Amino acid sequence: MSKGRLEGKVALVTGGASGIGEATARLFAANGAMVVIADIQDELGAQVAASIGNGRCIYRHCDVREEHQVADTVGSIVESHGKLDVLFSNAGIMEPPASILDMDIEQLDSAMAINVRGCAAMIKHAARAMVAAKIRGSIVCTASVAAGLGGVAPHSYTASKHAVLGLVRSASGELGKYGIRVNCVSPSGVATPLACRPVGVTPAEIEAACSAVSNLQGVVLKAAHVGEAVLFLASDESSFVSGHNLCVDGGLSAVNHAFSVFK
Ligand SMILES: NC(=O)c1ccc[n+]([C@@H]2O[C@H](COP(=O)([O-])OP(=O)(O)OC[C@H]3O[C@@H](n4cnc5c(N)ncnc54)[C@H](O)[C@@H]3O)[C@@H](O)[C@H]2O)c1
Repeated sequence: MSKGRLEGKVALVTGGASGIGEATARLFAANGAMVVIADIQDELGAQVAASIGNGRCIYRHCDVREEHQVADTVGSIVESHGKLDVLFSNAGIMEPPASILDMDIEQLDSAMAINVRGCAAMIKHAARAMVAAKIRGSIVCTASVAAGLGGVAPHSYTASKHAVLGLVRSASGELGKYGIRVNCVSPSGVATPLACRPVGVTPAEIEAACSAVSNLQGVVLKAAHVGEAVLFLASDESSFVSGHNLCVDGGLSAVNHAFSVFK
């Protein structure tokens, strides 16, 4: 695959200080984009931006729960770089698993505030900038295998990711008239801090647990695999793809092995 798939584009990556966002920011920059990482982990985000180097990446503090920070972030990109071509709205959190009988409603509020409201605010302000500059942009959000399936993640997280998928489909329906595409990726388990911390396990333990239930054997899902799917949706190679949920789950959400048909 040729490099330079985002040559001349300006991209914003939320949650880019770590995990899937970091891997995607690196791929975007390696493919010619000018990348702005927006996150709340300032030290880590600045380190990632510096390590990408070559003037290809900068870090900016942005808490996606605060709409004015989202608006300021998009505004500063347009001011400094003249436009915004690509939004990767990826910042997210996951609460520890618990029975719905003991559900902590404040955790539901937190998941909704970051995973859904944050994503909606990002889409709103990025799309405004694209419409104003007549940019036929690409917006990609991170949903999850939990966007279409119950029982694979905690309750609040599952509810929030179903909402992200709804938001993506709805926004794509309206923004298409401006030539703006809106899609999402839905990964299964990747050994990032988001996946490891709530259950107090190591990355190796997460990878072993995910491999044990994986449909596709012989490969372990890494953040860079998800980044490659995002890169496709961000680039002009997907220029007629919108409203799509690109599952990066090795077929997990397509197959029910409980029937043992293929055993
Ligand atoms: N890791 C998985 O198994 C998995 C699977 C499916 C979907 N996802 C989704 O992928 C996305 C990225 O998560 P990850 O797995 O790379 O985890 P991660 O913990 O490595 O990265 C998440 C990033 O989001 C940032 N963030 C959290 N709250 C924020 C806020 N209020 N404002 C701005 N940034 C904020 C964090 O600081 C962090 O850098 C999330 O949306 C997550 O739900 C992850």
